[in-house]
Amino acid sequence: MHSISDTLLPHYPKLEGMPVTAASTVGPDELAVLKLLALGGGLSGDVKISCSGLADRLDASNQTASRRLQRLDSADLIDRDTVSDGQWIAITEDGEGVLRGEYEDYRRIFETAVEVELEGVVTSGMGEGRHYISLPGYKRQFEDRLGYEPFPGTLNVDLTEDSVRRRSALESVDPVSIDGWEGEDRTYGPAVCYSATIETDDGGSYDGAHVIAPERTHHDEDQLEIIAPEKLRDTLDLEDDDHLTIYVGDN
Ligand code: CDP
Repeated sequence: MHSISDTLLPHYPKLEGMPVTAASTVGPDELAVLKLLALGGGLSGDVKISCSGLADRLDASNQTASRRLQRLDSADLIDRDTVSDGQWIAITEDGEGVLRGEYEDYRRIFETAVEVELEGVVTSGMGEGRHYISLPGYKRQFEDRLGYEPFPGTLNVDLTEDSVRRRSALESVDPVSIDGWEGEDRTYGPAVCYSATIETDDGGSYDGAHVIAPERTHHDEDQLEIIAPEKLRDTLDLEDDDHLTIYVGDN
């Protein structure tokens, strides 16, 4: 069971990248303003608002409305341009990231099956995948828990910027866990595997692959590693720089 604080905590790591002073001043009140701005069209371009108009919507004073905008601005979640009768506001990429984090939480609450769509291009790694995937301590678990012996290697995908941000949504997906184990001279860490379907731009599709990641992955990790029973470069006729869409879902 998760404690309630475990459940609530995931909101705030999403603000991790920002200066401490800014992160500590953005809380639920500011998020509510960010959401209002997005509902007004702030994600697709500038929206014009006046502090008094916003204050009415929030049922708060002008000063309160103005302070919340100031905090969103200091945290780089919005860009503002003040004119004589109000201000033009656009939600920044970081602002969108925070709202997406909220969205993923609500998805987790209301949806049972979650699917995250990620995009990127095929790239070559440093040949390490083959070594790790072939280690007996992992291989046995892949066979037992994924139901297949993976092709020895990982297909590396460089994610687009948008997908790097969206990657945090994998928190809502149920993975298969692979345990860490002791080798002769070192220990090997635990990993998680998410079910994945891969689509190429020319209509190719492969069902039954897995995204594999160390159990503790940084959210801004910009590469995805994929394992499958087959060599995907052959099955899907892939070369470096080919664009892929990867649908990651519950097992
Ligand atoms: O790290 P690097 O990309 O050099 O390769 P690897 O992980 O050792 O995998 C060997 C080769 O097989 C690479 O070209 C991978 O892109 C490819 N591969 C694949 O096509 N399908 C898989 N299921 C796994 C790896």
